[in-house]
Amino acid sequence: MNQKSKPIPFALPSLGKEEEEAALRVLRSGWLTTGSEAREFEKEFSSYVGSRHSLAVNSATAGLHLCLEALGVKKGDRVITTPYTFTATAEVIRYLGADPLFVDIDPESFNLDPASVTRVLKSVKGVKGLLPVHIGGRPAAIEELNRIKEDRDLFLLEDAAHAFPLVYRDRFLGTWGDAGVYSFYATKTITTGEGGMVVTDNGDLAKRISTMRLHGIDREVWDRYTSKEASWMYRVVEAGYKYNMPDILAAIGREQLKKGEMFFRKRKKIAEFYQKTLGDLDFLSTPTPGGENAWHLYMVRLKTDKLSIGRDTFVKLLQAEGIGTSVHYIPLHIMPYYRDTYGYKPEDFPNTMKVFESVFSLPIYPGMSEEQYTRVAETVKSIGKNHYRGKR
Ligand SMILES: Cc1ncc(COP(=O)(O)O)c(C=O)c1O
Repeated sequence: MNQKSKPIPFALPSLGKEEEEAALRVLRSGWLTTGSEAREFEKEFSSYVGSRHSLAVNSATAGLHLCLEALGVKKGDRVITTPYTFTATAEVIRYLGADPLFVDIDPESFNLDPASVTRVLKSVKGVKGLLPVHIGGRPAAIEELNRIKEDRDLFLLEDAAHAFPLVYRDRFLGTWGDAGVYSFYATKTITTGEGGMVVTDNGDLAKRISTMRLHGIDREVWDRYTSKEASWMYRVVEAGYKYNMPDILAAIGREQLKKGEMFFRKRKKIAEFYQKTLGDLDFLSTPTPGGENAWHLYMVRLKTDKLSIGRDTFVKLLQAEGIGTSVHYIPLHIMPYYRDTYGYKPEDFPNTMKVFESVFSLPIYPGMSEEQYTRVAETVKSIGKNHYRGKR
């Protein structure tokens, strides 16, 4: 296979010598679980995003669960969130016996629509908080949602899995609410393979999360082995979880954090290239030009009335040309679990369905070469041209 037709993966982590050496340093240290690397990663993360507390966990899913638990979510409570997300956002609400209350999205930003949130709050009781997602790295309407939170005395937890390291109006996304959770899953903007970080300025919340992430023990493992007290002494104060981040991952994360800004600039450059080359096409709608975005995903929508093929065929044709793509997201309310548990119908969230039917994501990651992203754009153009309605 020549270089020109070599498949372009949809996503690829950017890992170098620094991450390799960091992982080796931990392997050779004799301390494999949570310890000084995780502590340092948390400190460095806090000073990077400007949060009072950072808590490293083994996934964003774990982080979201811990936050909801610490925010007091209980059986029978409701938490407003978007149906246009990955299942992790909603499943953590179910972990606590509470119910996700889906509210439709804004069709431009693909994020929770604050006007719909306000409308729903007028008619539904038992809502404890808001759990918006910054989908693909696009900021949710965080100021409006914060206003709603204040007016209604709710909590605001940001699912910032896609949002690192976007600064939105002088503040990092993820630091606007009571707490925020980033993901370091393999495809995310920085990665530890699996992992996540909770950030909050609330000391009580941080204390509870810190206890619950490690079996409900009121001292961290590291303290047990380094304090002057008896090393065997610990107290279980709750039935907690096993959600701590091991030091190998934390050491990799520290190196990724140093590269976060550089990764972001590379993603942004690719997004600008896509906008320049695809932005004026009649059959495609690209993300809002100039709009702020962490560029975890480059989500485009097909104007299917302009084409003789639909999204599924378009994506298949791209794949046949070796261009990795994906569809984010199949709405949660049409997934069997949420549909059957809550009786949702597809038409309950019309904006979500409209976006879903025409959306797909193009590859965007720091390791892409100019030749690769140029080939992606040219292939999109040529498939669109070949199936343009009325022209052939
Ligand atoms: C929007 C969103 N929230 C949460 C998660 C969960 O992240 P993790 O895989 O780190 O648990 C994901 C994972 O892809 C996600 O896309």
